[in-house]
Parts: sequence; C-alpha cells; structure tokens
Amino acid sequence: MLVQLTYASRPSLAFKPEDLDSILAASKRNNARVGVTGALCLANGIFLQQLEGDRMEVNRLYHRILTDPRHRDPVVLNFAEINSRRFTTWAMGSLAPLEANRHIYLKYSRSASFDPYGMSSATLQDFFTELLANGEWLK
Ligand SMILES: Cc1cc2nc3c(=O)[nH]c(=O)nc-3n(C[C@H](O)[C@H](O)[C@H](O)COP(=O)(O)O)c2cc1C
Repeated sequence: MLVQLTYASRPSLAFKPEDLDSILAASKRNNARVGVTGALCLANGIFLQQLEGDRMEVNRLYHRILTDPRHRDPVVLNFAEINSRRFTTWAMGSLAPLEANRHIYLKYSRSASFDPYGMSSATLQDFFTELLANGEWLK
C-alpha cells in the first residue's frame, strides 16, 4: 500500500548548514534502497518533508528521522493513502534556497513568512504540486 507522510520540524542548535548535504546524501542512498521518494525543503528556519512509498517503509524511515538530533519540534501535518506518487525518481528532491522559490512559498502562505505548521492538508498538497511543476530544485 502506498502512503504519503508530510511533516515539519525545525533545525536544532546541533544543525550546521553543511549538514543538509549529508542529510540529502543519506536520503538518496537509503530511500532508493527501500523505494521511498519525496522532497525536502528548508525555508524560513523550518524543514518540510514529504515522504511517499510503502506504508511500512515510510513509517520506519519517519521513526528513524525522528531520532535525528539535528532537528526538533516534529509535527506530522498529513498522512494519507495515495494511488500514485508525486515524486517519481527514487530519491529525495531538494528545493533551492527560499529566495529562488519565494513567489511559490508566498502564494500558499497566510502571512509574509513561510509557515508550514499552519498550512492545511489541502494547501500542502497544492504547494508540493506547484513546487514540482514550477519550483527551482537543487541539482
Ligand atoms: C529533516 C531531516 C530529513 C531527513 N530525511 C531523511 C530521508 O529522507 N532519508 C534518510 O535515509 N535519512 C534522512 N535523514 C537522516 C536520518 O535522520 C539519518 O541520519 C540517516 O538516515 C542515517 O543514514 P545512514 O545510517 O545511512 O548514515 C533526515 C534527517 C533530517 C534532520
């Protein structure tokens, strides 16, 4: 069964900007092995990640991510069964820094600052759909 889990968290004091590279490297390595796909943004001091794949694998991965000391305040924003994936490469896409996608962040935000903790499930889905279609991603 395919599911999708969307959560937000905040980088902790232990997080260094260069950690993003090692998180993405681990994601690409591990997610490909278990057939998990998704996307990760870090904007306005908040991580927002969407994970999709087999229900057991997504749960297992999310529980491992929760133990990572580089972030805190994790909140599941949405968990849903899905018919198909949004991100069809076996990896973890990463959004370019906020400035490059500012218009998209703003379009789905209720205030001038990006705050996924306050976004509804429907808005989150629209947001990720638009990022995939029109967002700037890291290579
Ligand atoms: C915000 C955030 C997102 C992460 N996303 C993933 C992920 O999608 N896949 C993954 O394997 N690790 C992810 N990690 C890293 C894991 O917590 C963990 O460090 C990593 O899976 C360990 O991999 P390794 O045993 O291959 O070194 C993430 C960490 C953070 C802080």
